[in-house]
Amino acid sequence: MEKLIVVDFGSQYSHLICRRVRELGVRSELVPWYKLDETSLDNVKGVILSGGPMSVYDKDSPKISIDTINMLLRNRIPILGICYGHQLLAHLLGGKVERSDRKEYGPATLEVVKHGKLLRGLDKAEIVWMSHGDIVRKLPPGFILLGKTANCPIAAYESKDGLIYGIQFHPEVHHTRKGKLVLKNFLDICGFKYDWVLKDIINNIIKNISDRVGDNRVLIAVSGGVDSTTAAVLIHRAIGDKLHLVFMNTGLLRDGEVEWVLRMLRGLGFRNIHYVDASHLFLEALRGVRDPEEKRKIFSKIYSRVLREKVKELEEKYGEFKYIAQGTIYPDRVESGATSKTTDKIKSHHNVVMPKIFNHDILEPLAEFYKDEVRKIAKILGIPEKVWRRQPFPGPGLLVRILGEITDEKLRIAKEAHRIIEEEISKSEILQELWQVFPVVLDSKAVGVKGDSRSYDYIIAIRAVESEDAMTAEFAKLPWNLLEKIARRLVNEIDGVGRVVYDITHKPPATIEYE
Ligand code: XMP
Repeated sequence: MEKLIVVDFGSQYSHLICRRVRELGVRSELVPWYKLDETSLDNVKGVILSGGPMSVYDKDSPKISIDTINMLLRNRIPILGICYGHQLLAHLLGGKVERSDRKEYGPATLEVVKHGKLLRGLDKAEIVWMSHGDIVRKLPPGFILLGKTANCPIAAYESKDGLIYGIQFHPEVHHTRKGKLVLKNFLDICGFKYDWVLKDIINNIIKNISDRVGDNRVLIAVSGGVDSTTAAVLIHRAIGDKLHLVFMNTGLLRDGEVEWVLRMLRGLGFRNIHYVDASHLFLEALRGVRDPEEKRKIFSKIYSRVLREKVKELEEKYGEFKYIAQGTIYPDRVESGATSKTTDKIKSHHNVVMPKIFNHDILEPLAEFYKDEVRKIAKILGIPEKVWRRQPFPGPGLLVRILGEITDEKLRIAKEAHRIIEEEISKSEILQELWQVFPVVLDSKAVGVKGDSRSYDYIIAIRAVESEDAMTAEFAKLPWNLLEKIARRLVNEIDGVGRVVYDITHKPPATIEYE
């Protein structure tokens, strides 16, 4: 299938560019800047160079060579540089980039000097989103100016041969009003057929699984979340009851979650569901442990051990599993943000560690898709809305939402607080706009007055974020009356809670979860 490559120079928006291209119906893949070579050009009909945090003048800034650009041009593959990519192209092709320590961040007005093919359909003046320091001061020879802003004399350009384009602004963020149109114009320039259509792709996935697995058995560990449930349904459609599901109670799940997940899985028609209650193992091993990394490590260790034992037990009963399946999705596999070869991996989530514990082959039917695509696939497969709309819940569960030691009291508080917040938010229209909303039990207490006496109770932080992909997030501006209602219920209804605070930090610099 034809595709577009987004070359990642370390921008926090690289995945977003990839997703926008897919939303427009074109397969896209993210490739770190140092991995772009002739071998990665099969079926590639267009290349976008992403933004990045560095200057082309920084000694260690990520760069592709002029040879690479010539290789793309020889293959008649159009190139679009965005932000840093726009500067790098100008720099490499004989233009001039001016170093600046002053950053421009926020909206700007793009004055369209000439539409060309790239800016077709834009008004003479358009609001665009800027986030940069350096600017392009002089065009490379043979290039034409398309647009400028007050701070940026060359905010858009094209080459006379129609193969190279650059824009200083970010078309991938919503704040650039006609950003999607600019990207669509570029895809038209590349001549794409727009054949990334999930409905058609699903049948292929199912067929591929069935061809690959044949008569063998497959095991998948599920959590009840969107990714693992959708992966399981796809495999089930392909191989039926040769699929076995393992669902583990870690003791760190929410109130009623075990029963809900088991009921939901049975409702989806799975027959071989194996439930493992390992809650006491996790909670005992975590007792007295305060350090977040230590807690995560212990969790992973026990999870692997219990799962391995369960697999062994099931294999003795049913015969060998040839494949272990996982609900890994595209961003889990392809981390963005690498400005040097050594920063490739930024964080390793609990679910990506799994392959290391098994010698079986790994099956990852969703490894090519973003979360919003997985939700669409789930919807097309007929998985209930309650499931595909579920907010992400981390593998280690309440472990990352109870700071410091996990005691029985803090665990009870966390569970009750999750229930109350879910009840209140689900009544509100706001739910669909939120990526996640949840309480965090802090590791400190505060003084208060309850009735006539002094209290000294735990503090709960409410974390609510809007996000497109969890790479970046903004704290949600929940209505005061909703927050007031939640806070009142948390303090009144949960024994041991004395105070509620609202987290108003974006990601970055904070992460979404607390540990
Ligand atoms: P952070 O805290 O890194 O979270 O901003 C980004 C997204 O990932 C989820 N998350 C996890 N998911 N295993 C998971 O399956 C994990 O260990 C894990 N840690 C964080 C988090 O809920 C958010 O959506």
